[in-house]
Amino acid sequence: MPNIALLGSTGSIGTQALEVIERLPDCRVVSAAAGSNDERLQEQIETHNVQRAALYDKDAAQRLQRRTSVPVLGGIEGFCQLASDPDVDLVVNSIVGAAGLAPTLAALEAGKRVALANKETLVVGGHLVMGYAEQIVPIDSEHSALWQCMQGHSRSSIDALVLTASGGPFRQYHGDLEAVTVQQALRHPNWDMGGKITIDSATLMNKGLEVIEAHWLFGFSYDRIDVVVHPESIVHSLIRMTDGSYLAHLGAADMRMPIQYALTYPHFNPVLSMPLDLTELTGLHFEHPDYKRFPCLGLAFAAGRTGHSMPTVLNAANEIAVELFLDGRLGFLGIAELVETMMARHTPVENPDLETILALDRQVRDESRRQALSLKGRLTQP
Ligand SMILES: NC(=O)c1ccc[n+]([C@@H]2O[C@H](COP(=O)([O-])OP(=O)(O)OC[C@H]3O[C@@H](n4cnc5c(N)ncnc54)[C@H](OP(=O)(O)O)[C@@H]3O)[C@@H](O)[C@H]2O)c1
Repeated sequence: MPNIALLGSTGSIGTQALEVIERLPDCRVVSAAAGSNDERLQEQIETHNVQRAALYDKDAAQRLQRRTSVPVLGGIEGFCQLASDPDVDLVVNSIVGAAGLAPTLAALEAGKRVALANKETLVVGGHLVMGYAEQIVPIDSEHSALWQCMQGHSRSSIDALVLTASGGPFRQYHGDLEAVTVQQALRHPNWDMGGKITIDSATLMNKGLEVIEAHWLFGFSYDRIDVVVHPESIVHSLIRMTDGSYLAHLGAADMRMPIQYALTYPHFNPVLSMPLDLTELTGLHFEHPDYKRFPCLGLAFAAGRTGHSMPTVLNAANEIAVELFLDGRLGFLGIAELVETMMARHTPVENPDLETILALDRQVRDESRRQALSLKGRLTQP
């Protein structure tokens, strides 16, 4: 019976992971952790008989500790402790943002298997975690699809990895992207996800982060990773073989599928949703991404190719830009503008270690907030 530490338990992936785990007789969640949502975490502790908990926000951790008998740790160090506890077999990392890197590393160093939804771990610290590649299984649907397609095939028989992107809510939008609202950007056509990744899907930054994630997970150079827009989100990704044929993974847009596969690999178990009815499909469409209207995708390729500390800058500037956009303090186009400005200023640091990455992440966040004030994408608030 694998004992699971579920980090990011209160989020979109975290709650779906709990749903999946509840139906797997051989799994149980022994510890759960969240950012600041102490009430939701308390409910989860009580409903799922969780034995240990952590909250990133130390005040929230103290509040929760007063209401529960299970130990509640505070800060990212609490996450690292849960991730490396001796009785934990598998860590599900569904934290959002670069905060996920330290707990992933703690889990890997302690010899745990890690089911990884937190793509930022690989974006900012791919070079640090890839020594432990055998212990990592992907949760992101595209990477789960690639991973499943690749099984049984040698690297040399694969020409390229092809990531599919829905294109987001503005794929066919012909108005002024600067004027789009937060509500419009949060209306993803196919997937129901957390706020940050939904905005990243609208800018195509999410696909860019996934390109970097695929580079590290599967060891393919950026020249061998393609992106195609596939608005139906039925084909979750493909691999192109050296003979020109493709192997694809198809299914409903239901994250419980890749979450479950990460937990039960190499076995397939039933999930709650009905299987995709192929006869109901009206068509599968593929088109090139529009790099001009959605510059974040190109910025992510550029950061990935530069490597070293550049993806940390891309990610930190983007996290702040998305936060400001969600708060109504930055226009939609200001997101890419801020990321590009911060990348242009940065001189890459070679092979940064964890401390360097975390310090740079803090520094870029602070500078990004200041820089955002002078961007033309800024909205004037009443
Ligand atoms: N949602 C999807 O369908 C999907 C698909 C593929 C990949 N992913 C990836 O999975 C990760 C999680 O996405 P999500 O959509 O589930 O996000 P989400 O709904 O925003 O949930 C994020 C989780 O992380 C916690 N958290 C926030 N800030 C934190 C911090 N500084 N330190 C520790 N924990 C923190 C949140 O706690 P609080 O609730 O207390 O804030 C919550 O439990 C992201 O990397 C995303 O790219 C998501």
